[in-house]
Amino acid sequence: MKSRRLTFLACGALTFIGAACALNSSRETIPADWEQASYIERGNYLVNHLGHCVGCHTPLAPSGESDMNLYLSGVPAKYAGTIVGRSQMAGFPGPRGARFYAKNLTPDPETGLGRWSEEQFVRTFKNGVRPDGTKYPLSPMEWNIYANMKEEDVRAIYRYLRTIQSIPNKVPANIPPK
Ligand code: HEC
Repeated sequence: MKSRRLTFLACGALTFIGAACALNSSRETIPADWEQASYIERGNYLVNHLGHCVGCHTPLAPSGESDMNLYLSGVPAKYAGTIVGRSQMAGFPGPRGARFYAKNLTPDPETGLGRWSEEQFVRTFKNGVRPDGTKYPLSPMEWNIYANMKEEDVRAIYRYLRTIQSIPNKVPANIPPK
């Protein structure tokens, strides 16, 4: 009799733990067992295989392909003011003569993302805003789509971008609409 009661209690406890686990796993928490290394690996996967970041943010080699020696360093400074040509030189056209130049995503502190904190980066992706809080205008960077990424994916991208080669390149300033 006593042992049946014990079994009953034990089963009850297990059910409770099971339910607690199910509840917990439905919340979007960052898995505790994720090592920094897996974040970087995941960021690499998202940037290079899914997010298509390279196509817009990497200058072109004379062959017309992305120049991987200038990986993710944005539109080269020498093309400032250029409005004719491929978007990796002449930026992307916007309304009323506007131009948007893809930025330097390398960790260079002066011209890249070196001074961005991880929290600023997450806010940028979640809300389409610059670190100073101003909104990016309608631009070819699909902020509304990237905002659907899980926070942990955005963090993974940030951590991966910290590991790439730092390339100083001051991307030309956008040309605002007239
Ligand atoms: C279709 C082209 C395109 C793709 C794809 C793209 N970007 Fe961009 N990105 C841009 C342009 C253009 C800007 C500049 C927007 C502006 O100034 O309004 C930009 C801006 C940014 C900024 C803001 C930088 C700053 O200094 O303000 C970050 C961060 C960024 N992109 C990261 C990424 C990442 C990471 C990916 C891949 C997940 C990506 N982009 C994919 C074109 C693109």
